[in-house]
Amino acid sequence: MNTMPKDLWSYGTGAFEAEDILLNGSRFLISNGCLGYRGTLEEFGAAERTACIVNGVYDQNGDKAREPVNMPNGLQVRVTAGGVPLSCLTTPLRKHRQEIDLRAAVHRRATTFVIGDAEVLVEAERFASQDRPNLLCLQFFLTASAPLDIVVQTGIDPVVSDINGPHFSGHGFRTPDAQSLIWTGRTLEKGIALACGESLDASGLPGGAEVCPGDGTREFHFRAEAGARYRLDKFVAIFTSLDGHPDGPEAAAEALAREARVRGYEEMRGNHARRWAGIWDCSDVEITGDEEAQLALRYSLYQLHSAVPRHSSRVSIPARALSGQVYRGAVFWDTEIFMTPVFDLVDPAAARNLLLYRFHTLEGARRKAASYGLRGAFYAWEGQESGDDACGIFNIADVLTGRPLRTFFRDKQIHVSAAVAVALRDYLRWTGDTTVFKEGGAEVLVECARFYRSRACLNPDLGRYELWDVVGPDEYHERVHNNAYTNRVVAETLDIAIRILQTLAEGDPAFYRDLEERLQFAAEVAGWRDMRDGLFQQEPDAATGLIPQFDGFFDLEDITPAELRKRALHPNEYFGGGQGIATVTQVIKQADVVLMLSLLRDKFPAELLEKNWTYYGARTEHGSTLSASSYGIVAARLGRTDEAYGYFLKTASVDMDGNSKQFVGKEYIGGTHPAANGGAYLVAVFGFGGLSTDGNTLRLSPHLPAHWESLSFPLRFRERRLRVKIERDHMSVVAHPQNAGGVAIEHRGDEKVCLPGESVSWLYPAGEQHGGDAEPDYTAALAAE
Ligand code: IFM
Repeated sequence: MNTMPKDLWSYGTGAFEAEDILLNGSRFLISNGCLGYRGTLEEFGAAERTACIVNGVYDQNGDKAREPVNMPNGLQVRVTAGGVPLSCLTTPLRKHRQEIDLRAAVHRRATTFVIGDAEVLVEAERFASQDRPNLLCLQFFLTASAPLDIVVQTGIDPVVSDINGPHFSGHGFRTPDAQSLIWTGRTLEKGIALACGESLDASGLPGGAEVCPGDGTREFHFRAEAGARYRLDKFVAIFTSLDGHPDGPEAAAEALAREARVRGYEEMRGNHARRWAGIWDCSDVEITGDEEAQLALRYSLYQLHSAVPRHSSRVSIPARALSGQVYRGAVFWDTEIFMTPVFDLVDPAAARNLLLYRFHTLEGARRKAASYGLRGAFYAWEGQESGDDACGIFNIADVLTGRPLRTFFRDKQIHVSAAVAVALRDYLRWTGDTTVFKEGGAEVLVECARFYRSRACLNPDLGRYELWDVVGPDEYHERVHNNAYTNRVVAETLDIAIRILQTLAEGDPAFYRDLEERLQFAAEVAGWRDMRDGLFQQEPDAATGLIPQFDGFFDLEDITPAELRKRALHPNEYFGGGQGIATVTQVIKQADVVLMLSLLRDKFPAELLEKNWTYYGARTEHGSTLSASSYGIVAARLGRTDEAYGYFLKTASVDMDGNSKQFVGKEYIGGTHPAANGGAYLVAVFGFGGLSTDGNTLRLSPHLPAHWESLSFPLRFRERRLRVKIERDHMSVVAHPQNAGGVAIEHRGDEKVCLPGESVSWLYPAGEQHGGDAEPDYTAALAAE
C-alpha cells in the first residue's frame, strides 16, 4: 500500500481510491489509548464510516449487542469552492496524498481539487494528543490557484454510523462563545454523560463566521485570493462522566478545547511530538538491510503505541484497538499474550495498566465463573468495562442460511484466565515490579487458580486431572478434551499462583494475612499443587515427536487447508463449530500447539519444535491474524530464518496491507489488529533477536534473516536500560550510565555482566555468524518450573 517515496518514518498513499475508504479508516487511524479517530478525510461523514471511539465507553441499545460508543465527529470540515463542494468522492482530483508521519504520530492529507480552470489545494494535519488524552487537534489549510468564492463549514457532526446503535439520547448543542461549540448527550443504557467540545482558531480565515442555529455549525464565507494560504485550527476535547472529572464532562470538554486553542496548535503539537519522541526512544527497533521490514515494524509499533492506554488502568486494548466497533470493542486474550509482553520491555508502566485492567474487571470474571457453577475468575472471552462477557453464544451468522450459529467461544475458551496469570508472571520477570501483586495481581492469581481447580476433573481411572470440553486457541475444534495449550498454561497458572503467593507470604506477611482473611484461599493451595503436578499434559509421540492438539486429534481426517477450502460452498463460510467443514479434519484455524511451543520455547528441545512446527504448519489456515507470529518466533528459534521472515512480514504488514479476513460469515471483522502488531515486535526481538529471560539473566541467541545487516533495539530489564545491537559478525549490549547495577547477559553459554555505562560484546568467528547455540537443557528447565 505504501505508494509514497521511501521514507522509513512515513506510511501513506499517493492516490485516492474510493474502494479503499473502509480499509484506510484503519490504516490511517490516529489514537492515544483514550480516543481513536478513524483515518477518513475531513469532508467525510457517517457514510464513509468516520468514527471517534472513546476507550471504555460502551452502550447497549435494546437487545442489540453492547458496543463502544462512537462520538460525534468534531473534526469535520467541509469546503465549497466556486459553488462546488470539495470531496474526494465527487470532485475531480489533480493530486492526493494521505499519510501517517510515524515519528510524530500525525495524520496528513494534501489534495488538489480541480474546479474548472482553477485548482484548490486542501492540506490538513491532525493528531490524538499523547500529552492530553482527551484531545484531538486539527490544522486545516486551503489555497486556491485563482480567485474563488469559498465557504468553509465546520462543526460537530452528530450523525454517526453504528453497528448496533443509535446510542445517544437527549443530545444537543450549546455555543458558549464565539469560538466554541459544545455537544452533549447521554448513552441509552447507563445514562453516561458525554461531551464533545470544539474550539476554533479561525484567525487564519478572512472575516467572521455565521453560526447556524440548531447545530452550531460555523460557516466562513470569503473570496480567496490566488495563491493565498488560509488556515483554520480546530481543537476538540471529549470527556464522559466515566472520566470522573470534578467539573463534569461538559465543563471539562469546554475548558480543554479552549485551553488548547489559547496555547495554539504549534504548542499542542510540540507537546504531543515530544511524548512520541520519548516513546520511540524506548522502543524503536532498527533494522538495516531491509527497508520493507523496517517500515512494517515501525508501522506496527505506531499502531500498538497508539492503542495502549497510558492514562488509565480501567481500560485495556481491544482486539481491534480503537478503530471501530468491531468485536464489540472488546478486550480478548490477545492483549496478554501478544501485546503486554511488548510493553514489559519498552514501557513497563503501560504494561502495568493493562494488567491492572484485569484486576478492575475481576468482579465480572467472578460472575462469569459463578454463572457456570464454577469458582474463581473465568475471564471474559470478550471483556468490556465490567469484565462481564460481551460475547454472545450465537456468535457467527451462517453465510448460506443467514441463521445464527451456536459457538462455544464464550463458554469453553477457558485459557483467557491463564493468559492473565502468565502475563503477570512475565511482567514480574522483565520488570521486577512486585507492587502490581499488592495492587490486585495477587487477588487475580488466587481467583484464576481457584477457577481452574473447580473446572478440572480428576479422572479416577487414570489418576490424573483433566480439562474436558474446552476450546483451545484453534477455534475450529470446539468442545475437545485436554487441549495441549490449555492444559499447559493452566499448569503454569497454578504454579505461578503458588510461587507468587509463597513469595508474598515470606516477603510481606501482613499483606498476605490480609489477603487470606479476605479470600480464604490458604486451605486450597494444597489442591492447586496437587492439580499442577497431576494435570495431564499431552506428550510427544515417542515415534513421531508430535504433540496431539487434543485427545484424538490425529484420528481426524488429514487434509491440507487448500484441499479443505475446495469443499467450501461460500468464500466467507465459517469452517469451525458443530457443522464447520474443518471440524472433522486436522485443519486448524491458528497456532495452537505451536503457540504453546512459542511461549515455552526454552523448555522444549529443538527437534521437538521442528517436528511440530512442520506438522502443524502444513495444517494451519492462519485464519486469525494471531497465528503468524507464533510460527515466526519458533521458526527463528530453529534458525529457519527464511520461513521466519515470511511470517514476520505477514504479521508486520497486516494493517498496512489490509490483507486479513474482513468477514466471518456475515460479520464484518475489519479494523486494526494490535495482536498482529505486537506479534511483529515479538518475532523481531524474541525470534530474530533470540531474547529471553528467567528474571535474573538475559539470554540472547540471535538468528537474523540472511539479508539483514543488523538488528538493534532498546529495552528495559528490571529498571535498567540497555541497547542490543546484533550485526553479522558481532553482537553488543550497551548499558545506560544511570543504571542502578549490572545486568547478567548470556550468549552461547558465555555469561558476561554489563555494568552501567559499559558494554559487553561477542564476536562471531569468521563465516559463522549467529545461531549454532548450545541447546538449553530443557529437562532441567522443565524440572525447575
Ligand atoms: O482472540 C482472537 C481469536 O483467537 C481468533 N479470533 C479473533 C479473536 C480476536 O482477535
